[in-house]
Amino acid sequence: MTQIFAHRGYTASSSENTMSAFIEAEEVGVDGLELDVQLTKDGEIVVIHDEKVNRTTDGSGYVKDFLFKDIRKLNAGKQCGKRDPIPALNEVLDWMQSNQLICNIELKNDRFPYKGMEERVIQLVQNYGLTDRIIISSFNHYSVVYSYQLAPDIETAPLFNERIFMPWVYAQSIKAKGIHPKYSRITDKIIKTTMENGIAVRPYTVNKDVDLHRLLNINCSAIITDEPVKALSIRKQYPG
Ligand code: G3P
Ligand code: CA
Repeated sequence: MTQIFAHRGYTASSSENTMSAFIEAEEVGVDGLELDVQLTKDGEIVVIHDEKVNRTTDGSGYVKDFLFKDIRKLNAGKQCGKRDPIPALNEVLDWMQSNQLICNIELKNDRFPYKGMEERVIQLVQNYGLTDRIIISSFNHYSVVYSYQLAPDIETAPLFNERIFMPWVYAQSIKAKGIHPKYSRITDKIIKTTMENGIAVRPYTVNKDVDLHRLLNINCSAIITDEPVKALSIRKQYPG
């Protein structure tokens, strides 16, 4: 059966990448979460999409220039008029002890290299005993490979914006067990062949009914979506 992953949590009534959004996602019955991480000046892994705090919080500036104690004072709940701090990754992993969710951690290190990010993320995942429930992805494929080298037991998956030729060959060559392509850049045939070659395919970010039907119909490994409730409802039509 196709797994449903809530993109940045479930953001119907919570702001993206907040604990409220992750808790709501779990409550509506998703199989997994997708979230984004950046690194603070003092080496804390924090859950936020952009390199800057400006769009999603009431602050301004780069995440990399904040100490954790200062970035925690910002409100990341402004999109929904609530008060929600930027979560530390360890907060999310701690909460995952109380559920069975899978978590796709996207390393946002394609703009700033964030030295030490992979080590810190992996250390946290191992400390919480979550190696079998985490997928590390990134548009920075050097980081995907490095993560695999540091922890071969944690699943990795490169993110793609573009059409890749025989993506299963590429995935196998970097020891990734999955690929996360942009949904509009991959055909049904390539998805099926990739899966037949033992590589999971989790397209992003799939929100329209027509695209959800398309991917559920071919029993795609997983779907990363902003519309998890709709996706879960449509999934009922497809035995898988
Ligand atoms: O992980 C899939 C997707 O989240 C990648 O794009 O910009 O939403 O992080 P973005
Ligand atoms: Ca993301």
